[in-house]
Amino acid sequence: MPSFTSYSQLYRGAVETLIQAGVVNARHEVLWILEDALGITRLQLHANPDAPVDAEVCQRAFTLFRRRALHEPLQYILGTQDFWGLDFLVQPGVLIPRPETEMLVEEAIGILGADVRPVILDVGTGSGCLAISLAVNLPEAMIIASDRSVSALHLAKVNAIRHGVGQRILWVAGDLLSHLLSRSLAGKVTAIIANLPYISHAEWEHLSPDVKDFEPRLALDGGPDGLDVYRRLLDEAPGLVSSKGFILMEVGIDQADLLCREPSLTDAFKVVKVRPDSQGIPRVVCVQRRLV
Ligand SMILES: C[S@@+](CC[C@H](N)C(=O)[O-])C[C@H]1O[C@@H](n2cnc3c(N)ncnc32)[C@H](O)[C@@H]1O
Repeated sequence: MPSFTSYSQLYRGAVETLIQAGVVNARHEVLWILEDALGITRLQLHANPDAPVDAEVCQRAFTLFRRRALHEPLQYILGTQDFWGLDFLVQPGVLIPRPETEMLVEEAIGILGADVRPVILDVGTGSGCLAISLAVNLPEAMIIASDRSVSALHLAKVNAIRHGVGQRILWVAGDLLSHLLSRSLAGKVTAIIANLPYISHAEWEHLSPDVKDFEPRLALDGGPDGLDVYRRLLDEAPGLVSSKGFILMEVGIDQADLLCREPSLTDAFKVVKVRPDSQGIPRVVCVQRRLV
């Protein structure tokens, strides 16, 4: 381990390590790690650059900087990610919430805000960011959150307790929707909110190492064209979604059109909205159950 005697040496050594590893935002990331994980503030750095650094702090710092130099996502190192103004715990094995996914929350609130007691299913809940944000914003809603990953569900429950909505959400482990049909939910779900895996095999090859080597493949890999999991969801959904109920789905580049033309979608649902993200990529597909 390099030995540093002062804050400024520690800062410079860490920046150099991250730059050499190809971390783009090295200077900011070093400051975030110093502040969040080690409690060394920018003020301390600027006001007392020559102040000595405790050897134990130095060792902890470089364990963290080494993890980042291997391209582990900063959020796994710091342990949290902000989503919809709420702070979520994240850990390896569970997808880090992305800013574009907040559009699903916004659309769901827009559609369901006036409902008396909507029944909302967040399928593939991961960290719980969608279910929890909706529970916080729609106090009358009944919310079910499911995932195939038991470790994701466990973390989601912890996040829900932290935000005071642990008791408001029913947690269910299982593959997509079939296991929910037996829970008296058939035809009763007002809206399914889904950010399911949608990375195609071609896109997988070009993912950055931060994502490909550290985030769970189960959360990302959507099969050859990325839509395998959504096709299965749409096959199973008519049994669960109420008459005129909704499904809101997040998709990737060039997938919205393809999804909107899927026979399993057009047979039972109509497209009511496709919303682009801040880069103009059609990102959220909102469909409504035809009258049954
Ligand atoms: C893209 S991540 C989204 C996580 C979270 N909803 C978010 O927006 O950050 C997809 C999630 O779906 C889960 N998943 C993947 N395949 C599934 C399946 N067949 N049934 C249920 N959940 C699944 C993964 O474990 C993962 O947590």
